[in-house]
Amino acid sequence: MEVEHEGHLMNLAVRADARRSRLGAALLSTLIAEARRRGIERLTLEVRPSNDAALALYEAAGFKEDGRRHGYYSDTGEDALVMWSGPLEGPEMTAVAASLAASAEVALAEFRPARYEGPPADEGRDDLILAIESSCDETAAAVLRGGRTILSSVVASQIDFHSRFGGVVPEIASRKHTEAIVGVVDEALAQAGVTLDDLTAIAVTYGPGLVGALVVGVSYAKGLALATGLPLVGVNHLEGHLFASVLAEPDIAPPLVALLVSGGHTSLVHVPEWGEYHTLGSTIDDATGEAFDKVAKALGLGYPGGPAITRLAAQGDPAAIPFPRPMLRSDDLDFSLSGLKTAVVTYIAKERAAGRELRPADIAASFQAAVIDVQVAKATRAVEESGVETFLIGGGVAANPALRAALTAAMQRRGVRVSVPPLDLCTDNAAMIGAAAHLHLWRGETLGLSAEAVPDLRLG
Ligand code: KG4
Ligand code: ZN
Repeated sequence: MEVEHEGHLMNLAVRADARRSRLGAALLSTLIAEARRRGIERLTLEVRPSNDAALALYEAAGFKEDGRRHGYYSDTGEDALVMWSGPLEGPEMTAVAASLAASAEVALAEFRPARYEGPPADEGRDDLILAIESSCDETAAAVLRGGRTILSSVVASQIDFHSRFGGVVPEIASRKHTEAIVGVVDEALAQAGVTLDDLTAIAVTYGPGLVGALVVGVSYAKGLALATGLPLVGVNHLEGHLFASVLAEPDIAPPLVALLVSGGHTSLVHVPEWGEYHTLGSTIDDATGEAFDKVAKALGLGYPGGPAITRLAAQGDPAAIPFPRPMLRSDDLDFSLSGLKTAVVTYIAKERAAGRELRPADIAASFQAAVIDVQVAKATRAVEESGVETFLIGGGVAANPALRAALTAAMQRRGVRVSVPPLDLCTDNAAMIGAAAHLHLWRGETLGLSAEAVPDLRLG
């Protein structure tokens, strides 16, 4: 409680079976840090004189007795000792805060969940997760055993409905998800040969993505969780893309660096262990998939652009047109793709205006080469700076064969293990969501039934 510039510590409690583990010090340390942050000058508290452990903690934390309240505790009639800290910004309390923070670090380390190594080889294989994905333009459901074995994976693509508009139309996406979701989930259960009664948990992508698309999956998953009483596990779509690699190569393990390249995201992520993600760099404008889509549109190739550019590029000369390599030499791990896209679009317009015949295959190949050069340079730099020996790539653009080959070659030259998921696991699917959900289920991280879609959800 805060009164003027003084803080009154009302209660500090540690569960009986967790005492003597310095958790009290951890709590007090957090409290003092918060009080300092709020500009509180001093802290006061009352404590029972018979509570030796608490007295020792407060004394070690620089609190001093300053009077008593007689008969304060109504249960035993005991007095309360009134204690005051020194000035929080003074040298003594600054030293106390630092030493408490250090012991808090030690105490909390013991309570951190153990490292997730994936499911053990033969036990824990029986849990069955139904995963649902609806963040963009695919309605997908999958059933996984033990977080690694795909019993079924159904993907209903809406591409046909969006392609005539040259991109994903959010309103159409939500409506199509609503139409498809029941059938897709039923089909996933049927193909896996299981019923809702056999399941251990329901998992769902709750962000990032289109809000109207995400809510369809989240609402349906919540309904299933409510009806069955099963836990509901929320998964970050990007974490799903990371776990796609694990489905193909179950022994892939952190520490690693991942390049996530999709229609909405482009980033390099350092993964010291599963569940811990540090973004090293990301695009400052367009996503890589978005650049493919926009260049394809300029070439009249339709949506989605990635596969169309890929096919065309295979027949073209990657050195034909020297498109810019934005940020290639910048001193960071960020990307920029809108300049490159503009350069390609401008080139096409100029050639047309000059009445020259376009060579779409050369344009596609040259654009693709520019993208790849930057991605390879940044990815290898990220791997070198983090000192990891494993690299993986995820997201729809990871389906691009030239990018896969270039990254694989660059990493192998450095003795780094590379994992590139099979094509159907690169683009959006629910199996990868189920694989990531296994980690959260194992950690006991579930969403309540008040869970909501988070369109701008971040990784880490
Ligand atoms: O991961 P994803 O299926 O959906 C999102 O989460 O965005 O990625 C879709 C993106 C689209 O922009 C599509 O053009 C791109 O991935 N893509 C490709 C290829 N296949 C799909 N980009 C380059 N080459 C491909 N072969
Ligand atoms: Zn995706």
